[in-house]
Amino acid sequence: MKRTKQDLLFAAGVLGVFGAGVAAGRLLARSHAADAMLPRASLLDTLAVSLDVVAPTIAKGVIIRRPPVVALAERLELDRRAVRRLQALRAKYGSGPLMLRLPIRRQAVVLAPEHVRRVLDETPEPFAAASSEKRAALAHFEPQGVLVSQGAERADRRRFNEGVLEHERAVHHLADSFAAKIGEEAARIMERARARGELDWDAFASGWYPLVRRVVFGDGARDDQELNDMTVQLRKAANWAFLHPQKRAVQARFFARIRDYLDRAEAGSLAAVAARMPTTGKTQPHQQVPQWLFAFDAAGMATFRALALLASHPHHAERVRAELHERSERRHDLPLLRATVLEALRLWPTTPAILRQTTVATDWERGRMPAGTGILLFAPFFHRDDERLPYADRFTPELWLDEGKVEVEHRDWPLIPFSGGPATCPARNLVLMLTSMMLAALVEGRSFRLAPGRELDPARLPGTLDNYRLRFRFVD
Ligand code: HEM
Repeated sequence: MKRTKQDLLFAAGVLGVFGAGVAAGRLLARSHAADAMLPRASLLDTLAVSLDVVAPTIAKGVIIRRPPVVALAERLELDRRAVRRLQALRAKYGSGPLMLRLPIRRQAVVLAPEHVRRVLDETPEPFAAASSEKRAALAHFEPQGVLVSQGAERADRRRFNEGVLEHERAVHHLADSFAAKIGEEAARIMERARARGELDWDAFASGWYPLVRRVVFGDGARDDQELNDMTVQLRKAANWAFLHPQKRAVQARFFARIRDYLDRAEAGSLAAVAARMPTTGKTQPHQQVPQWLFAFDAAGMATFRALALLASHPHHAERVRAELHERSERRHDLPLLRATVLEALRLWPTTPAILRQTTVATDWERGRMPAGTGILLFAPFFHRDDERLPYADRFTPELWLDEGKVEVEHRDWPLIPFSGGPATCPARNLVLMLTSMMLAALVEGRSFRLAPGRELDPARLPGTLDNYRLRFRFVD
């Protein structure tokens, strides 16, 4: 109850900030006349974007989700509303980028696929991933993480992340070690689900988070509840970005614990790979690891939503079982299940707002964008654009498969659940491997359906899917 109240207060605060901002924007509009060349949204449209697109994204929790707000977003179809708002802006202003009329900063929204590609491909210069709001949020638990780094430091930390996470490899060399851990945790999840009579988020999470700690640090970290609690505390503060004071004491204990695990470098874990990776004074490995712990949340949500897609598409689930049978010796590379996870991420992206900030003025077909402009790429607008994509609201795993067999990355249209370009998620392959292996362990030998009241309509999948309230019945 206390949390719900806090969440509502937070949402109200966000709306207040944006509302006041728009009003003050009138005063400052003249001083920003230099960027008048790019289309500029009216005050009313700026307010509408703030309310329909920005506020729900912030209120749901950017760094750690607030489950009551996610439930509300599902009930009110807030993500669909956000897509509709951006479609209306495109119809009114054309391809953009569209400058908003905010007083606190210059802010653009990207509306055209070719502009998405440009912004992602030309990262980190002139489109820095280390935007002001990201730096403010991540300062709480990874101020030197690659995501908020620029220049030589970014290059060094990116190399480290790509090396440990094996960015280029579909199958991580530790796949066998991870498979054993997944098998054990999946068995625990199902044991708990059987005791409850259904599989819900709590049962899933009781195996997923221990698995994450085993993958990152090794089996010795499986039951480290204190590490989990510290991560949650810091991420809750990070949700408030600069509005929340830093929890210095928790940070110090958190980094000390991470260093400890990295020093132990338990065999078969990412920590062991990190220990062998060349580092420089800039790398700061202990500052890269918090992103790994935090981002596995998204992978858990995607796994559970992918299970919902399997449960509501029995024909596809049959194909998946056939793939498992056919690949009984190659369980680490499962294209159909990887495509299922990618579809869960297209339909319900876990990083809906991809943010950049210009380091210099940039020129576009319709005008110049000043240095220091924040840029918003709102993934659901491109993933669920039913004015352009016939498959917008339907499960379409073929999008991610070449000839129905081999996984491909979609290039023509921006389907960007893992972002793209030089700052693309370096764990894309690792995530798809682990999540598809977890799904394989869950679905093999049993069939799932969604519990009554939580079914999905395959002809029109919802704009928001609350993973915390998904419940499954199953038959072994
Ligand atoms: C479903 C799971 C995940 C999704 C959808 C996802 C998505 C993303 C996205 C969209 C970005 C780019 C943000 C931007 O362009 O500003 C990103 C960056 C990043 N992700 Fe992931 N991620 C996931 C899981 C993970 C995991 C598990 C790890 C580590 C083990 C990880 C490590 C990173 C790192 C280090 C970056 C920063 C890259 C850079 O700035 O160069 N991600 N991720």
